[in-house]
Amino acid sequence: MIAYSAPGRVNLIGEHTDYNDGFALPIALPQRTSVVFTPADIDTLTVLSDRADESVRIPLDTAPGQISGWGAYVAGVIWALRGNGLPVPGGTMSISSDVPIGSGLSSSAALECAVLGALASASGAQIDRIEQARIGQRAENDYVGAATGLLDQLASLFGEVSTATLIDFRDTAVHPVAFDPDASGVALLLFDSGQRHGHVDGEYAERRASCERAAAELGVASLREVQHLGVEVLDGVSDPVDARRARHVLTENERVLDFVAALAELDFAAAGKLFTASHASMRDDFEITTGHLDLIADSSVAAGALGARMTGGGFGGCVIALVPAELTLKVGDAVRAAVVAAGYGEPEVSRVFAAAGAG
Ligand code: GLA
Repeated sequence: MIAYSAPGRVNLIGEHTDYNDGFALPIALPQRTSVVFTPADIDTLTVLSDRADESVRIPLDTAPGQISGWGAYVAGVIWALRGNGLPVPGGTMSISSDVPIGSGLSSSAALECAVLGALASASGAQIDRIEQARIGQRAENDYVGAATGLLDQLASLFGEVSTATLIDFRDTAVHPVAFDPDASGVALLLFDSGQRHGHVDGEYAERRASCERAAAELGVASLREVQHLGVEVLDGVSDPVDARRARHVLTENERVLDFVAALAELDFAAAGKLFTASHASMRDDFEITTGHLDLIADSSVAAGALGARMTGGGFGGCVIALVPAELTLKVGDAVRAAVVAAGYGEPEVSRVFAAAGAG
């Protein structure tokens, strides 16, 4: 029997930069998905989840289109592992999780990474963590059918306690960055709006297509290649919407690096301002926030947060805020009151921190 688990993640900053070869800075969350796997000499994997009434039976030679729903993430991992020529044992697997689904906290990557870790441990396959992330991404892109980047899997695999992971997606380089706001009297608050999202729908793919069109028009393979030229280069993008999308990506990359610099100085006031600027860019240029998320971000800053931003793919999910520790209750109450007064459901407010990665 093998037990393996992988965490959800919060992206501190660097949204929709991953598929543009840019920078992002996620942390692994304390919330995890755990897998218990009992290998057997059979050619199917039967999977039970504490979140589903019925188990799913997956043939090991599964192919895209065969399994849908949550089981597709598991089947996708099997399919991607085998596609890489790696052995996959059959057996039974039971899954439990406290990573909320559809909140932008990467419940899908947590599931992929936990399943992959369990299967690889059972077969004895040595797969380095970057390759594990790619296998998880392939499962999601080509089996589940969501064209997401590599951010979520890398965050789940490389997370460490009190540490954020700076990722440079151009060469998939991963650097640990000390992140312990609590030691400086600052809390990282997570507001789950309760507004659910799904990436398989068209908006994510549309944003990605806009960025790719902008890069193509500028004659480069990715927007990262014009990063050093500054936003003026975007005068060369004819479609104003594509140009705005690309502006978000270029300015967001800049903010990730500025955020890392602010952390090095333990300057959480500066870090907070970068959160707020990132949110504005996602609201105005990338247009992936919602009125509901804007209200959470704005009301937390009005109540004393150093800064706040939506985190994740967008169109729902969570907002994070850096808040002086003595103001956490006040900010939480003020956000709840503002959100309820506007007719939205009450957000769930929690204090989070950087936790361990998959293992
Ligand atoms: C989702 C995707 C990631 C990334 C983020 C936005 O979480 O799965 O690959 O693109 O959105 O930063």
